[in-house]
Amino acid sequence: MDHEKLVVSGGNPLRGRIEAGGAKNSALKLMAATLLAEGSYRIERVPRIVDVQTMVQVLGRLGCATTFEGNTLTVDVPAEPGTEAPYDLVRQMRASIIVLGPLLARRGHARVSMPGGCAIGSRKIDLHLRGLERMGAEIAMDHGYLDARCDRLTGTRVVLDFPSVGATENLIMAGVLAKGTTRIENAAREPEIADLCAMLATMGARIAGAGTPDVEIEGVDALRATDHVVVGDRIEAGTYLIAAAATGGDVTVTGVAPKHLDLPLQKLADAGAQVDAGVNEVRVAMPGGPKPVDFVTLPFPGFPTDLMPQMMVLCSLAGGDSIATENVFESRFMFVDEIRRMGADIRLDGHHAAIRGGARLQAAPVRAPDIRAGAALVIAALAAEGETEITGLGFIDRGYERIEERLATLGARIERRVPR
Ligand code: EPU
Repeated sequence: MDHEKLVVSGGNPLRGRIEAGGAKNSALKLMAATLLAEGSYRIERVPRIVDVQTMVQVLGRLGCATTFEGNTLTVDVPAEPGTEAPYDLVRQMRASIIVLGPLLARRGHARVSMPGGCAIGSRKIDLHLRGLERMGAEIAMDHGYLDARCDRLTGTRVVLDFPSVGATENLIMAGVLAKGTTRIENAAREPEIADLCAMLATMGARIAGAGTPDVEIEGVDALRATDHVVVGDRIEAGTYLIAAAATGGDVTVTGVAPKHLDLPLQKLADAGAQVDAGVNEVRVAMPGGPKPVDFVTLPFPGFPTDLMPQMMVLCSLAGGDSIATENVFESRFMFVDEIRRMGADIRLDGHHAAIRGGARLQAAPVRAPDIRAGAALVIAALAAEGETEITGLGFIDRGYERIEERLATLGARIERRVPR
């Protein structure tokens, strides 16, 4: 698969309507949450992406049966799921660590391969582990595996040093079956966390303050299986909207809550786009050339780090200089070298990037280094002169469902070539 490439002929404004899929970063957590109760779950609007496939395999190793029909995933969870998430799967997707909380809560034991390095930073998990230990888990490192044990977790107050998305989710899922009340302060507020809490609530969990910095969970003795529809993917939607702006196009994305994209839409408006937000859809049109715009990534509701690389491409095309500041990950600017190969003029200084506008992007062979940088390269290629070949599709496919087919419906000249 890794020899496949996207071939993109740039210069065509994107136009039309497109529906966002369900959010990757919600679907993966909802799938892990099924481990909290025996029975059959039906989760609709699950994106058919590689990361979801990896989580299907993780659930499979834990004894769950899954079937897909279109974008509806059925998960059958046994009375006693397994407790080990092995290296070969966690290596492919760090987010597998999210089974730690649910397995500990349900089985009192979890053995999860320690996630390794990653292209956007070292991505520690100390906050997950410290929180679980405060709830009574004993966690040891054993030959590259985290081995966590407890009798029954006990509710407690956890103040996170940083509003980590994964730590907040692991601790919420640990708390729902714990004895007593768990209070998470400085919790992450990403909409995907509210979505997870909504599903947990229909399973019988008692959670107050979902989607706020103070989440309070009153543990219950048992939960039950449920059905759920995944929230729309704000990052996929934002990617298409930035692509519309970068190509001087006019695109409406449906199936996404504009309030989940407040700051990106504000920044697109500052860059000169016409932005029309409806109830569950948003239209972005860019009649003239983009204006420069500074932006700073922060946990939600700040500007999402997952749209930073895409936005930097738009800034490269602007009629002036912009500054991007990355505050969430320590080394998420590594993709800049690839974008430079297409003619972008970007200088880095620590967690700041100075983007000189007015670039005439040119086609070049490039390689996607991670999911979102891959999406940024696609946007750069759509805005560039000539035919760009993008490899490293394994990354783009981890987060975007059939990106070439979806963009082609908006008039993009893009195709996937598979070597024979
Ligand atoms: N951090 C720690 N200790 C921890 C946990 C996090 O120091 O215990 C640090 C990390 O090193 C990082 C920062 O906190 O610098 C943010 O990490 P966070 O835990 O919030 O992120 P995550 O849960 O690992 C999720 C998404 C990412 C997204 C971030 C931030 C999933 C599967 N992944 O990661 O999505 O960028 O939140 O919003 O939900 C992507 O979709 O391409 C992607 C990378």
